[in-house]
Amino acid sequence: MINMNNGKVITISSVKGGVGKTTLTTNLAGIYYLMKKKVLIVDLDLYAGGIATVLNVSPKKDIYMLVDSISNNRFTSLRDYVSTYNNGIDVLAAPKDPRDVSKIESKYITKILDIAKIEYDIILVDTHHLLDEISLVALDNCYMSAFVITNDLVDLKNMKSLLSIFNEANKENYKIILNNSRDTGRDYISLFDVRNIIKGNVDFTISKNFYIKNIDKYVLNGEILTLNKFINKIYSGDIKNMNKLASSLIAESTGEVYKNG
Ligand SMILES: Nc1ncnc2c1ncn2[C@@H]1O[C@H](COP(=O)(O)OP(=O)(O)OP(=O)(O)O)[C@@H](O)[C@H]1O
Ligand SMILES: [Mg+2]
Repeated sequence: MINMNNGKVITISSVKGGVGKTTLTTNLAGIYYLMKKKVLIVDLDLYAGGIATVLNVSPKKDIYMLVDSISNNRFTSLRDYVSTYNNGIDVLAAPKDPRDVSKIESKYITKILDIAKIEYDIILVDTHHLLDEISLVALDNCYMSAFVITNDLVDLKNMKSLLSIFNEANKENYKIILNNSRDTGRDYISLFDVRNIIKGNVDFTISKNFYIKNIDKYVLNGEILTLNKFINKIYSGDIKNMNKLASSLIAESTGEVYKNG
């Protein structure tokens, strides 16, 4: 079914690797799915993308093949290039062959996102932490971006630099998410300190309680944490907060403020 309203592109970004972007991407996908939204996850972590792996899907086609078809006027339907996770979540996988990555021109990313907006309600773009041209195009074309930071001084200092660039450019369509579930031993840096270091607000916090010791069990099964009943029960506080984050990322008014908690 064609979605007459334009879908919303949400990028999940960071200034440091391994902060929990991909995990947050799939968790948000689960939440939007429960909101009855049609979701596409685009894996723009082109060299090292892991969306297909963590969701246990085996893509026949990838984003490079889509770019190749568009550039050679062979493209007919996005459906031919996405892999199905369930009845509401599809995946556009990163290139299988890393040699194809350098052949992807950023202008095609804009085209792909425009095409996706016609068929999906939500397009979640998982990125890598380097702000290269492809990532910048995704940031320029998104409705909202979620920046994941951790309690790491270098990470926070780099976020501060990026935020000052956003301020200069009057870019306001982003949320900052402090993920305390990755480096659980680092909670001596308080939320107050984090805000002081980045010279900006922290819109959401994923608490250290959300550290899931046996997360690989879920990854091996291709399970989305937010769609798992047990996880929903045990980590209800963080799941509730993640629902608020999901709503705020697609809220019509960017002025809408949700507090931590
Ligand atoms: N809440 C959590 N509890 C336990 N482990 C977690 C949690 N969130 C993420 N991890 C683990 O931390 C690692 C990094 O997470 P993830 O891959 O989501 O980060 P990333 O920012 O996407 O990394 P990259 O920059 O390499 O793409 C993974 O092994 C993941 O399973
Ligand atoms: Mg990742």
